[in-house]
Amino acid sequence: MASQNIYILGIESSCDDTAAAILHNGKILSNVVATQEVHKQYGGVVPELASRAHQQNIVPVIHQAINQANIVKKDINAIAFTRGPGLMGSLLVGTSFAKSLSMGLGVPLIDVNHMQAHILAHFIEEDAFEKPEFPFIALTISGGHTQIVKVTDYFQMEVIGETTDDAVGEAFDKSAKILGLPYPGGPLIDKYAKNGNPKAFKFPKPKVPGLNFSFSGFKTAVLYFIQRETKNNPDFIKENLEDICASIQYSIVGILMDKLKKAVKETGINRIAIGGGVSANSGIRNALMEAENKYGWKCHIPKFEYTTDNAAMIAIAGHYKYLEKDFADLSITAQARYKF
Ligand code: KG4
Ligand code: ZN
Repeated sequence: MASQNIYILGIESSCDDTAAAILHNGKILSNVVATQEVHKQYGGVVPELASRAHQQNIVPVIHQAINQANIVKKDINAIAFTRGPGLMGSLLVGTSFAKSLSMGLGVPLIDVNHMQAHILAHFIEEDAFEKPEFPFIALTISGGHTQIVKVTDYFQMEVIGETTDDAVGEAFDKSAKILGLPYPGGPLIDKYAKNGNPKAFKFPKPKVPGLNFSFSGFKTAVLYFIQRETKNNPDFIKENLEDICASIQYSIVGILMDKLKKAVKETGINRIAIGGGVSANSGIRNALMEAENKYGWKCHIPKFEYTTDNAAMIAIAGHYKYLEKDFADLSITAQARYKF
């Protein structure tokens, strides 16, 4: 296997990022993401606009990925694409394009589960990054999902905890919206939190059994708190933005860490890997780095460009499926809800 020369084109179009990447023997040669700005003005992703933007972006993004990798189309050994989960209209663009290109080039087609890819991003060859050892616990935190996954092999994954309502990214984005911040608000909460006091305000922790999460009550707690405070002082948000953001972030990170501690206790596995857009958050990154000393965990934190949606992670998942000759045929369809 080692002597093989494998080039994988990864295509990601599950939500509002059109992305393409070229992976050579597990190393990224190019990783292109076109983020759709059109949704900002609506305060969230508008599915119909997302699929239209994917249609406009997909050809130039793939061209750019191939050019930046300094290869030609004929070098590509297989095409990996996101089959789901995600927005149907968005997934259809990537799925149809991947099918046609694989047919045109005469190379295998590989379907990838987006959530598995967020986890497998840790296996991209990167000089300063150690790959997690099996078995490990993955915490996948994004705008659409919040899962604790027991990972025993590349494609042997078991969801042992998940959200019963909102995803953690939504908790960030909806809290940000209440504060009048534009979409997606997660990175902005992170930014303002850096200069705030995390203990300035207290938000209740949801009581959810086992390893599951619930974030819908959290957003409501933030809403009531802000309504109450702005009634007394209309400038409350402006005057306390950094402290509010730091307190929101501190509470959310606390909820995630509590469940991780529980997962470690229940499984006896203390190797942790995080993935998904929210793993870009500095609060969760710091908490995990602290946990290495505090609890003796081994924590794997991905490179920033592999946290939010990208095609490099789709390509690495495709690489491992390619080694297993686990290919899809042209009858494959996109799946908005796609469990593994
Ligand atoms: O994985 P992702 O790019 O897309 C989905 O599959 O959902 O995740 C996007 C989510 C958004 O909710 C965004 O606000 C959040 O990740 N996010 C962050 C940060 N960067 C992205 N949340 C908190 N802090 C950040 N630094
Ligand atoms: Zn994602």
